Amino acid sequence: MARVDVHPNEWLGHPGLVRETYARLTAEGILLASLNEHGRLNPMTIGWCTFGAIWGRPMCVVLVRPSRHTYTCIERTGDFTVNVLPEALGQVPDYCGTVSGRSMDKLRHLELDTLPSKHISSSGIACANIVLECKVVHRNDAQEAAFPEEILASYYPGGDFHRVYFGQVLGVSVDEAFLAGVR
Ligand SMILES: Cc1cc2nc3c(=O)[nH]c(=O)nc-3n(C[C@H](O)[C@H](O)[C@H](O)COP(=O)(O)O)c2cc1C
Repeated sequence: MARVDVHPNEWLGHPGLVRETYARLTAEGILLASLNEHGRLNPMTIGWCTFGAIWGRPMCVVLVRPSRHTYTCIERTGDFTVNVLPEALGQVPDYCGTVSGRSMDKLRHLELDTLPSKHISSSGIACANIVLECKVVHRNDAQEAAFPEEILASYYPGGDFHRVYFGQVLGVSVDEAFLAGVR
């Protein structure tokens, strides 16, 4: 599968790439991938993620609960990739969103290859249509006192408040055939 590098500013302004990212995000989820302490790439499904220009930079913002293995990984490396898989691989986000990489090599189980990154330590996932290479430039914790009661009751009955990672998008890799088909 040939791949094309797209400039991060061009990615933010490309309606087809942004539309596909949101479509997958709001359907089965997309994959946040980071390296664990053994240098193994760990993918975790996310449904909460926003994009835009912040501090004059193309940014991807993700929310990770401290209970996730991914939290430990990102805290260690300070970077991550965001991977948008083809719709036909919907069973992959299902699996990566229910199994923890703490005790399991998810990519090995799924027989998926990694894609070396050009700007950060964490790799991407080779079969992804879109891979964003993100470096954490800011992080912040969701604050209990700042939430209305209904959100606390729905999303935080057991605490485990998300850490919000602001990832500057340093590189974007897109599957060539996929790119040719999106407008
Ligand atoms: C559709 C879907 C979306 C999810 N979104 C998030 C999210 O945005 N943040 C989060 O912390 N966990 C989210 N999860 C839960 C994690 O993916 C799940 O707990 C995963 O097993 C954690 O993997 P890890 O322990 O290897 O990091 C989501 C799960 C699913 C199925």
